[in-house]
Amino acid sequence: MYNNIITETDLGVGIITLNRPERHNAFDDALIVELSDAIDRMAADPAVRVLVISSTGKSFCAGADLNWMKRAAGYGNDENLRDSRALAEMLRKLAQCPKPTMARIQGPAYGGGVGLVACCDVAIATFEAQFALTEVKLGLIPAVISPHVIAAIGERYARRYMLTAERFSAAEAYRIGLLHEIVTDVAALDEAVGEIVDALLNNGPHALAECKQLITAVAWKPLSPQVIEDTAQRITRLRASEEGREGMNAFLEKRKPNWIAQG
Ligand code: COA
Repeated sequence: MYNNIITETDLGVGIITLNRPERHNAFDDALIVELSDAIDRMAADPAVRVLVISSTGKSFCAGADLNWMKRAAGYGNDENLRDSRALAEMLRKLAQCPKPTMARIQGPAYGGGVGLVACCDVAIATFEAQFALTEVKLGLIPAVISPHVIAAIGERYARRYMLTAERFSAAEAYRIGLLHEIVTDVAALDEAVGEIVDALLNNGPHALAECKQLITAVAWKPLSPQVIEDTAQRITRLRASEEGREGMNAFLEKRKPNWIAQG
């Protein structure tokens, strides 16, 4: 069904694998359409409780396909803008996916590849991974990825790495908050991703979706009366919800809640 990605679903986990290794998984219009569609499907599929973004080959993702960017530059303004919006919208869908998302990073990520990583809730890489926001080197800017990258690494590091376009190591990416964990090799990567997936599968699916919305609603906001009231409203709703009641009852009755496979 797709030409540039592979999708699979197993035991509550949806995996979208970028599969254009000969182009270092750079994304062009076709890949963006497929990725966008796959994210929508995974978001809507009740069998998927966690979404993992991975890729084949040497690189995680070399960002925007520069042949496509060059082609888009020759379009009329409307078509050029439509193309840019498609990429911005795909990243938004990933960032706001109601399921928890993970990036499994086996190799370098540049430009939009860093954007993909930043859009995921949890990011784990091997030491092989390197990162760079190379856009300004090409006379471009990291525009559509910027809200996600700045949310991940903060304005201070964005200023350095977006302006210098330097490559930085997995260790530096970990230090500045782009990565949550670094592991030695691909076997350890799968193990580490599996551990986080297991933790996520223990948690209420509805609570996870609500928790993602909570983080977005509260992040970077001053502690205003409106924010405080909003948080009170949210917990009021959640503790009266079916899933909230089930979770609390399960704890008090010393049993597993009904969203965890029994046995
Ligand atoms: N867009 C289009 N093609 C790309 C690409 C991209 N973003 N990144 C890599 N490729 C292509 C190369 O042009 C090359 O094509 P060719 O075989 O027809 O010559 C092929 O992928 C292999 O790349 P190559 O540079 O030979 O491999 P490498 O292992 O030496 O380096 C990278 C890999 C990813 C480090 C390097 O290609 C690179 O820096 N790419 C640009 C990444 C970038 O700046 N992305 C941000 C865009 S906004």
